[in-house]
Amino acid sequence: MGLEWKGPCWFIPGPTWLTPAVLEGLAQPTMTHRSPEFKSVMAELHGRLRHSFALTPTTTEVGQQAQEGEDGYSVVVVSGSGTAAMEMVIANRFGSNDQVLVPTNGKFGERVAQMCANFTQVTHLKGEWGRALDLNEIEQILSQGKHEALAICHNETSTGITQDAESLAKIAQKYDVSFILDGITSVGGLPVHPKLWNAEAVVVGGQKCTAGPSGISAVAISESYVEKMIAQRESGKGSPLYYLDLVQALKKAADDQTPWTPSINLCTGWVAALREQDKEGIEKRWERCARLANGVRSLFTSLGFELFADENQCSNTVTAIWYPEPDWGEEWRRWISVEKETFVIGGQDHVKGRIFRVGSMGVTSIEEMIEGCKRMIDGFKHFGMELPDVDVASHFR
Ligand SMILES: Cc1ncc(COP(=O)(O)O)c(C=O)c1O
Repeated sequence: MGLEWKGPCWFIPGPTWLTPAVLEGLAQPTMTHRSPEFKSVMAELHGRLRHSFALTPTTTEVGQQAQEGEDGYSVVVVSGSGTAAMEMVIANRFGSNDQVLVPTNGKFGERVAQMCANFTQVTHLKGEWGRALDLNEIEQILSQGKHEALAICHNETSTGITQDAESLAKIAQKYDVSFILDGITSVGGLPVHPKLWNAEAVVVGGQKCTAGPSGISAVAISESYVEKMIAQRESGKGSPLYYLDLVQALKKAADDQTPWTPSINLCTGWVAALREQDKEGIEKRWERCARLANGVRSLFTSLGFELFADENQCSNTVTAIWYPEPDWGEEWRRWISVEKETFVIGGQDHVKGRIFRVGSMGVTSIEEMIEGCKRMIDGFKHFGMELPDVDVASHFR
């Protein structure tokens, strides 16, 4: 293991901390979005985003259709956070009479359901937070043949659970429904295989596993998605759209551009982050996230803490842990941030004040996590917990 970690420990599950190279990437002089200079930024962004999505590689060269690969998937960059990209995917593909099934087990899945309800007829299968989705129930509903799509939040950041996308993909294929994934905290940090899963659309947010800036996102869409979106448009039944028109965005992406003025410096910053991703290698990044999360799970359960998520589906990019004492849990979180410069996030909605969540995404190193865990344990001891002295590093080997 390398050097000891001295600085702040940042385990927020996005925005992740930005490396000096990314900060430099953000601080580029003004360029216009119709310049050759910007086209080369977009081409590189498209080419490298394909690696984040585990799509077939293309190129990072201008004028070479970097966004579109042999696997039939195209990537499109969206000026807006992941929510904008998800809205783009739903609003462009479905009409108000389309039935979309959204099974959920946390806050972000519920948001997918709310969003779909604005544009489609949604069947919201609202499950218990942190429990695995009920595949039999999903299959039973889809077997009725009413639904056009199955939409999920792949990695539920609110509860630290990763859905069984492979099994869900098989069910979607069996009943010939479109499979849509909010991959906002999975793409770049967990194995995501759009082609293998026959996914029509997958969304990623810049500030999460790719360790890029916030306020920018991207979608990967299949040929089938594009065909159905265009058919929807031609039928006149689609939702009214202008800024988030994916047909326009796709057309411009083919020329290494965007329809409207994009967030130019977020694009240059994201490129810098993706260069770092590619230097590490996407599979190596998945492995590092897994090692970080495994270590966190192993350490805290060995100390008697309980994990929030279903044990078979714990996420490798965020771990949710029950506070041993809800009475002072949030005070502990504030204390470690002020006294120890160690940052984790709390729970949302009904688990606010009851759980804390530790992100293991972006560029977090093993050394940073080991140091951060030591500081968290010091914090728990400060609040009176009697914990044994443990070899923290041994959980991360
Ligand atoms: C799984 C998931 N989906 C959606 C969002 C919303 O993304 P954004 O805030 O980038 O719009 C988040 C943010 O944390 C998330 O974790």
